[in-house]
Amino acid sequence: MRFAVERMTVADIPRVIEIERLAYSTPWPPSAYRKELQDNPLAHYIIVRDTHAQVPARAMGPAESAPKRPFPLSLLPSRTAPVGTPELASTIAFAGLWLMMDEAHITTIAVHPDYRGRGIGELMLATLIGIAYDIHARNVTLEVRVSNIVAQNLYRKYGFREAGTRRRYYSDNHEDALIMWTDDLESPAYRSEFLRLHTALVARLRAQDPD
Ligand SMILES: CC(C)(COP(=O)(O)OP(=O)(O)OC[C@H]1O[C@@H](n2cnc3c(N)ncnc32)[C@H](O)[C@@H]1OP(=O)(O)O)[C@@H](O)C(=O)NCCC(=O)NCCS
Repeated sequence: MRFAVERMTVADIPRVIEIERLAYSTPWPPSAYRKELQDNPLAHYIIVRDTHAQVPARAMGPAESAPKRPFPLSLLPSRTAPVGTPELASTIAFAGLWLMMDEAHITTIAVHPDYRGRGIGELMLATLIGIAYDIHARNVTLEVRVSNIVAQNLYRKYGFREAGTRRRYYSDNHEDALIMWTDDLESPAYRSEFLRLHTALVARLRAQDPD
């Protein structure tokens, strides 16, 4: 498919920071991502690349031209491309979660503004839920700004439901956060709805492949 999901590596951080600054009013510092990737065994971070992005032509070295394994990504090898390569320039989105006890907690999810409304946010959410299944999480949870209706719609589509608020959670404007949870991932109803959504998503993304 045109849009490829891969595990995030330290080499992805500069591009992730660029996208994050376009997406959030209070971005994390680059050191926070480095710490997450290198020191937090509970963290799982992914990126999405547009494999057909228009990026500056440049000869590719052996590490960059080596074939990459697509999702499912439990056994993905680490990537070795250095910063500034066409591969990194084509990164268009990123997301992550932590596994805490048997809960998967989504920490971030952001799509470059030029690529929104095409199913990429959904691709990442479905991938994170896939990771949650892989690591035997029971539920997935997250916080979202009460004003962020677009993100809430995405989460509701995947069965997240409101389970309370955290008052004045966000430091920039003291906005409240909605706390959202999925049902038990292993329940037959959740599993079958997830598979239905996943099938529809793959068809939507495939329709964006060039002929
Ligand atoms: C939230 C975000 C990740 C969504 O990514 P996206 O790629 O644009 O979303 P998708 O195209 O995959 O859409 C998936 C669903 O999201 C919802 N959605 C997306 N765009 C929407 C819009 N403009 N209005 C209302 N709902 C919308 C819909 O439910 C949509 O499903 P549908 O296509 O069946 O209607 C993206 O808008 C973003 O990066 N926002 C800034 C960062 C952010 O707010 N992150 C969430 C923090 S909790």
